Amino acid sequence: EHTSFLVFSASLRSGSLNTKLAKLAVKVIEKHGGTVDFADMAEFDCPTFNQDLEVDGYHPDGAKAFRERILANDAMIVSSPEYNGSMPGYLKNVIDWTSRFRPQPFHQHHALLMSASPSMAGGNRGLWALRVPFEHLGTRVYPDMFSLATAHEAFHEDGSLKDKTLAKRFEDNLVAFMNLVEASKHYPCIKKA
Ligand code: FNR
Repeated sequence: EHTSFLVFSASLRSGSLNTKLAKLAVKVIEKHGGTVDFADMAEFDCPTFNQDLEVDGYHPDGAKAFRERILANDAMIVSSPEYNGSMPGYLKNVIDWTSRFRPQPFHQHHALLMSASPSMAGGNRGLWALRVPFEHLGTRVYPDMFSLATAHEAFHEDGSLKDKTLAKRFEDNLVAFMNLVEASKHYPCIKKA
């Protein structure tokens, strides 16, 4: 049985650098024998959260879809833009909506965070912000995060990274995460409930 990864870019725009990075992650995972479930952030779109909407067990379709895709896979990999030193508002909104299901779907789920930005910091601050709700919800966020700086000039036409050292670090980061997720499937004490 293959280990399966939900991979998505938390950017909605068509020319997204994070989507490029997420697609490169797909190639690496498949190269190393993992199964990928690639999602489009638009599938998880939710109305602005308002507790008044939560009547008769209402959950928006975007949150239902996100929950299903989380639970259908062994782990998730998110490539998220950094907006104003934090995560995009719509991403936090989807996390808030999805956190309202019981059992709470993020609990004990593995996640790897990555980012891409034209800036020199590669959107890394946004990932530290994204760790907060995930860790609050009991997600096992992988310690090593990957942030791609000057991402607008980092890719070849075929989607690979121009910098070979960086490409190796990206691959090593993903493989280390894959190994952890794979290993955890065999240890009942740390297996997802
Ligand atoms: C940005 N951008 C940005 N970049 C960054 O490194 N740090 C930041 O704090 C911000 N802030 C920010 C706010 C808002 C509202 C926007 C729209 C953009 C730039 C951002 O990294 C750039 O647009 C990326 O290309 C967005 O990711 P995608 O859509 O290419 O994946």
